[in-house]
Parts: sequence; C-alpha cells; structure tokens
Amino acid sequence: MAIRPILTVPDPILKQVSKPVEAVTDEVRALMDDMLETMYDAPGIGLAAIQIGVPQRVIVMDLSSGDQPRAPRYFVNPEILETVEDTLPYEEGCLSVPDFFDTVERPARVRLRYLNYEGKSVEEWADGMFAVCIQHEMDHLEGTLFIDHLSRLKRNYAVSKVKKAKRTAAA
Ligand code: NI
Repeated sequence: MAIRPILTVPDPILKQVSKPVEAVTDEVRALMDDMLETMYDAPGIGLAAIQIGVPQRVIVMDLSSGDQPRAPRYFVNPEILETVEDTLPYEEGCLSVPDFFDTVERPARVRLRYLNYEGKSVEEWADGMFAVCIQHEMDHLEGTLFIDHLSRLKRNYAVSKVKKAKRTAAA
C-alpha cells in the first residue's frame, strides 16, 4: 500500500469523467488499498480514484467516528437506481478543496448498486451521512466537485483560497 498525492483545484484532471472498471482484479484492489491509505492519512471520509489522478469509477469510504473500529467501504462502478424527493442539507468538504466547507442539498436517500471489494454486486439504500458522501463521491466520477453546486462567487472564492494556500506552502 502507498499514500498517493491528492489533486486539488483547479487541477483539470479533476474535471475528467472516469471510466467504468471492467472487472475487480487484484490491480483494482491494490488501487483501492492505496486510496484507503491515502484517505486515512489525509484524513478524510471518502475518496474517488480521480482525486489521485486515476480516471476509474472507484470510490473508498469510511464513516466510522474517532473511537470506533475502522469500517472501510469500497464502491466500484456505483450507480444510483432511485432517489427520494426529500433533501438533506449538509455541510460538505473535500480533500481536493482543502479547508473550505459549505452546505449542499442533495436527496436524503438513494438506492445504490455497485461492486464491492470482492467484485460482488451489492444493492442497498443509503441515508444520512452515507447518502451525502456517496453522492459527493459519485459526482467526482463525472468530474463534478461539491463547489460546482454553489454559486460562482463561492466557487471562485474556494478555488482562490486553495491556490493561495498552496502558494504560501510553496514559498
Ligand atoms: Ni470530494
């Protein structure tokens, strides 16, 4: 396993649409292992492969809180089969937009289908933070960031904040 660098805005790679994975091979599992280690190191609760520059439809997540045992989840080729009309506003952040948070409103529950770490097809409902996180991560697969759901003014502010922080760190 290896920790990989996480791309941040305005890196154009983050705008790419990721491609479906043909099969969950050992190579894909090695990618998921690296993604999980990178996410824990950051630390974050979700990561899409494109955030480490790999345009494949792969997501890792762990929604366990501090004192709970780790509970990694893996999603390959995830699809949303159904959503409810109710929405849930939630203050989101993203490892590709460090130190910026704002509220996005998304469907409160979604029914998912994906392949897990073993390559088995799984269908389940997600709600609460799980629903928020999987929709946020699935946006990444389409080249969409959570700041793309905000006003242009807020989006520009977020990007310039990240650029400025990077310049300061490099100086
Ligand atoms: Ni994100």
